[in-house]
Amino acid sequence: MPGNTERAPTAKAQHPARALHGALTDFIRIDDANGRFEINKRVFTDPAVFEKERALIFNKCWLYLGHESEIRNPKDFLTRNIGGRSLIFNRDRNSKVHAFENVCTHRGTSLEVRTHDNANVFTCPYHGWVFDGEGVLRDQSSPAGGYDEGFNADGRYNLMPVARLENYRGLYFVNFNPKAVDLVTYLGKSREYLDLIFDQSEDGLEVVGGSQHLVNGGNWKVLTDNLVDAYHGNILHSTYFEFLTSRTLDPKTAATFLGFGGGLGHGHNYWESTFAVGRPIAHWIPAFGEAAKPLIEAKKKELMARFGDERGERIAKTSRNMTIFPNMMIVDNVSISIRTMYPESEDRVHMNIWAMAPKNEPDLLRRVRLDNHLTFTGPAGFAHPDDYEIFERMREGNKTSTLEWQDYSKGMKAEEIEDGDRRKSRSDFLNESQQRAWWTQWDRIIAGAETLEQE
Ligand code: FES
Ligand SMILES: [Fe+2]
Repeated sequence: MPGNTERAPTAKAQHPARALHGALTDFIRIDDANGRFEINKRVFTDPAVFEKERALIFNKCWLYLGHESEIRNPKDFLTRNIGGRSLIFNRDRNSKVHAFENVCTHRGTSLEVRTHDNANVFTCPYHGWVFDGEGVLRDQSSPAGGYDEGFNADGRYNLMPVARLENYRGLYFVNFNPKAVDLVTYLGKSREYLDLIFDQSEDGLEVVGGSQHLVNGGNWKVLTDNLVDAYHGNILHSTYFEFLTSRTLDPKTAATFLGFGGGLGHGHNYWESTFAVGRPIAHWIPAFGEAAKPLIEAKKKELMARFGDERGERIAKTSRNMTIFPNMMIVDNVSISIRTMYPESEDRVHMNIWAMAPKNEPDLLRRVRLDNHLTFTGPAGFAHPDDYEIFERMREGNKTSTLEWQDYSKGMKAEEIEDGDRRKSRSDFLNESQQRAWWTQWDRIIAGAETLEQE
């Protein structure tokens, strides 16, 4: 039983027909007849569950590393902790992009401490081994010799590349499993939503310098849940929603808070809404200022010309949040941002947020966009203080209470499900179809029913 902390997490006997309807592990309880979907709180608190996640999720799924614009010039590099490993993400002198383990191959010393820079080589501080941007060991700082000429002839002392590195539209992902399915297959239908975001600019999107890094006590899945949880939006963040609505000067704005949410297959999820609170691409509201109006209207015309009325209008006016399973999220509403939630343990998580913008965006629109970004997600914005207070309260509640099951049932009976697969569901965006789709994939991976490998 999930309440019994004596037992390691287990998978129930696997019945393929049941797999997509019932749960495979003891951590999820599904009652279709009564429209009930519940998660046991141990998934948020138990170190044994975290160990399973490390092995089956973070060592097997495609994990977001960074955007091409963060290493835009030859020899640019950055270091990042991804799925429990420190990595160097770099562009070599010939502009080829790499991801290496950030460790010296001599004795395993952590190699690079800078978060980002532009460098010809990476030098280990211990005995001075020097690696170039292609990861090749160039020098052992041993003028008196001591090494045979063929010491590294087979390249065994070169930096260790991650097993897989692939990108989709400039978004670089790594996978530590050499047998993993390719990234495009893994992304599947979520590409439709990524395209709605990355089609906003013909020149592409770029990360706007730096990132916000927040460290929080609590489980990483509380954060991934939260970002696609549209239900809490105008309740927890009521002040922000009142502020947003007031900026439009349109009393009918609240009536535009309509939309759908659900699963895009493989655990990826989304919500999409028509809420008309302004988008730098490409929906003007009075708060953006008169000077921004012609720029935004020109942008909308351009989108209509490139994609036709229906898709052009959808890109311009609808907003969306989405997750690439397990923990990469994109927010595309009053601004665009990418975020990741990498756990350090079952009780500590690092969230990074990168503001994105179209390359070559006019200065005025860039200012409007970044002002929107900071108003909501900045350190003093409306969102994080509210959400972080809740994360802390959930952590406290889960640690101390005897409440065992958490409820994710909202709208369960109303959702449409494709191919009998709850990971491809759709219902009102204020329901919890998107979370159920994500948890169904989590359940299947933890049970060993999804290998995420090529056939
Ligand atoms: S540990 Fe890096 S050079 Fe010796
Ligand atoms: Fe929130």
